[in-house]
Amino acid sequence: PILSVKAPATSANLGSGFDAMGMALSLYNVFDLMELLPEGEFKVEVIGEGTGSWDLSLSQENGVVKSYLAACEAMGVRCPGLWLRCHNAIPLSRGLGSSATAVVAGVLLAAEVSGRKASQEDLLELMVRLEGHPDNVVPCLLGGVVVSCFGDQGLKYLKLPQPPRDLMAVVAVPDVMVNTREARSALPKTVSFEDAVFNLGRAALLAAAWSVGRFDLLSFGMDDRLHQPYRSKLFPGGEVIMDRVKSVPGCLGVAISGSGPSVIALAKGSPSLVAQAMCGTFMEHGVRSRFFVLHCPV
Ligand code: HSE
Repeated sequence: PILSVKAPATSANLGSGFDAMGMALSLYNVFDLMELLPEGEFKVEVIGEGTGSWDLSLSQENGVVKSYLAACEAMGVRCPGLWLRCHNAIPLSRGLGSSATAVVAGVLLAAEVSGRKASQEDLLELMVRLEGHPDNVVPCLLGGVVVSCFGDQGLKYLKLPQPPRDLMAVVAVPDVMVNTREARSALPKTVSFEDAVFNLGRAALLAAAWSVGRFDLLSFGMDDRLHQPYRSKLFPGGEVIMDRVKSVPGCLGVAISGSGPSVIALAKGSPSLVAQAMCGTFMEHGVRSRFFVLHCPV
């Protein structure tokens, strides 16, 4: 390839940090630029996740191509076409940020191919605009655990200290897909003052606990009333899985990953009991699942 972009999976929200907290995970999509083509021509090959499920490789519909074209337009540059080979390891539509990897890759390719000098801040803002929320693309580009806020005043973010290597993220991925757009439309337009205060305290505590390494406070800090109570109804086992997993020894906290249906548990020690509780719960609800034991790359 002329150029390769390697982009990690991400788990957004971490419970209470809806649209704000996000964590990079050691599972990657790799996008190889094989050749530049004449303007308007795109060829996309997909290897791995998504192969054969639908026409993901339909070039104009491909997420990387879409964000590449949108980025070229936003930068006001004319860009050549691309021949891309996508090696996808991140399961699709499971709340693990696979679409964020496509956004990040498309924007980076546009910047590189056009030779347009852009700061990291500008590129990040463009990525957030294309994705609609910051909590996947920001940790996808920067790695680690990041708190980010996006609004009229642009993007503000802060990367938190790297967790210790023995802190693992156990991610259970059920064999059902949940579309982020639908999972967002399942949320209420307004929430009670009480629920807002509930989340505010927990999200602040979660970020503070992460910053000073008080991992014993994660579980409490990850509790959420803004989105999980609604989204846990969207996939089999969702309403019981978090309580089950929370009580497993070694589990430091559990949440729906992004908009679901994957579930992420942070754990120390042996991850197998945590994984068993997660996949066992899915199984009891009639869904097969697989699990990954990951760490948080820098
Ligand atoms: N914060 C976003 C949401 C993440 O929960 O809808 C989507 O992956």
